[in-house]
Amino acid sequence: MGGSWDTVGGYGEPSPEGGCVQGSGDLGELEEGVATGSLLEARQAETAVTNLEQAAAGGTIHPGRRTPHPRPGGAPRGAAVRLRVREEGSRLSAAIDHVPLLNELAQEYVARSPRSSELNERAARALVDGGSHALRLIEPFPPRITSAKGAYVRDEDGHELLDFWQGHYANLLGHNPEVITTALARAFEAGFGLQTGLTDRLEVETAELLCERVGAERARFTTSGTLATMYAILLARASTGRSLVMKVGGGWHGAQPWGLVGVDFGSQDAPFQGADSEGLPAAVRGEVVVTPFNDPDRLSDQFRRLGDRVACFIVEPFIGSGAGLPASPEFLHAARELCDRYGALLIFDEVISGFRFRAGDAGVFYGIRPDLACFAKVIGGGMPVAAVAGRADILEFAGRAKGRRVRFSGGTYSAHPASLLAAKTMMSHLVAHEGEIYPRLSSLGAKVRATVEGAFATEGIHARCTGRGNGVLPDSPVSLLVFPRRASSPLRGPQDTRNPAVCDVALGEEVVQLALLLEDVHVVHGLGTVTAAHTDADVERLGEACRRVARRFRHTLKQRRA
Ligand SMILES: Cc1ncc(COP(=O)(O)O)c(C=O)c1O
Repeated sequence: MGGSWDTVGGYGEPSPEGGCVQGSGDLGELEEGVATGSLLEARQAETAVTNLEQAAAGGTIHPGRRTPHPRPGGAPRGAAVRLRVREEGSRLSAAIDHVPLLNELAQEYVARSPRSSELNERAARALVDGGSHALRLIEPFPPRITSAKGAYVRDEDGHELLDFWQGHYANLLGHNPEVITTALARAFEAGFGLQTGLTDRLEVETAELLCERVGAERARFTTSGTLATMYAILLARASTGRSLVMKVGGGWHGAQPWGLVGVDFGSQDAPFQGADSEGLPAAVRGEVVVTPFNDPDRLSDQFRRLGDRVACFIVEPFIGSGAGLPASPEFLHAARELCDRYGALLIFDEVISGFRFRAGDAGVFYGIRPDLACFAKVIGGGMPVAAVAGRADILEFAGRAKGRRVRFSGGTYSAHPASLLAAKTMMSHLVAHEGEIYPRLSSLGAKVRATVEGAFATEGIHARCTGRGNGVLPDSPVSLLVFPRRASSPLRGPQDTRNPAVCDVALGEEVVQLALLLEDVHVVHGLGTVTAAHTDADVERLGEACRRVARRFRHTLKQRRA
């Protein structure tokens, strides 16, 4: 329908330019601590006083035993490392000058990883940026993995990395759990597993199990969370005859047209208002309404303005990559009530929350049933499986009963036998062991938060791990590590955790990641997830690594100040 930002806008007043367009592929290129930044960034640089800097100044530092940071491989100091840093990161790095530290870390990293480095050169010739997923392609190059088991992965250079990324949070039982690999090995041995292009008992049984566990009338399988959310939105638009899609600013639903608006923070004046990719149909940008997470009043305003044109509100009960925070019950109840009042559909994106807090959906904790819900990640047990599940009368827009008006169809590899075998095995295992697995994941997640925050506090650095329960949703195994500029800053959602005025985003995203890799710990977004394979000893190891990293941060800043 091509609505303009005059009507659909972002959080605040509509922006005629529609905010800033991100993701143009224009990466900032930094070399040996030289960075470029805009005037705004320069102003931020003048005014930003990070809690890290305060710590370096000695204000809040707790005494700690000084342990020299190990320099694996005896990295040559001063060697020029050409370092390309992601655009957003480089801006922030420029603003608070993390670039020298990043370069120092990169030099050590290069020196200790000759085989990954060599492979990276080949990768860069065959693959865009050397790979297929931006989050895996860390700077200066990613560790290339040769094996993965439980809480650990091993890289080409023989480093055993304690992994908290765990397959983009998919591996709730750790890497390659035997329950899944054995089932797959047996099936392949018996001559079953690759795509047949027909349907089978397994598809029926897996759908029955999923529907039962998430309270859905129907389900349909696909291969990725991205496709699931896209199909759910098509179903909502077709069944309501409306075109506006409401989503949370900073919420990630995969790289599909409506999901690619309002992901990157953008500017302080117009946060989360941009289209995050070029090449999108022009109308899409005008069809997405962005609203802040955990802000029921703003949600209500948005519905008052636009409710009769809204096809659906898509929201995560636990917002994953943007913040790692549970939705407040007020927010989700307002969402349910407003969708009902205005005739819009409520879609829960449970790609992260599904089967993460219990062997089923997370909506149950809130006593809320969405019209549609999307599942992926955990349900696949490490294989590519996703599903849209929910009301039969809506899903049937994809079926014969309603003339197949929504082409939630096709997909050569949809309902792939090996994937469904993994999914059924995984979900059955989680159901059978629900009483042990989930309470343990929750308490291990809480332990990680206390340990990591404590480690940074020892060096006077205020670090906060997201993912705490809110009395409705339990403590999460997933956490992001953020560095609020002020200890008192509330963290309500991506509007805070991704806001460079509230949190030192580059420190949490890039610097910590590289620093921890040098400690043989792999994190993304500052931290990640514990799994059933992680132990108390692993958490202690993480704590030790964080303590050394924190000490190093403080020491580096102190040196620079001197
Ligand atoms: C909440 C959420 N929705 C959708 C997606 C997209 O899923 P996939 O990566 O399987 O396409 C993701 C992926 O991280 C996600 O976190």
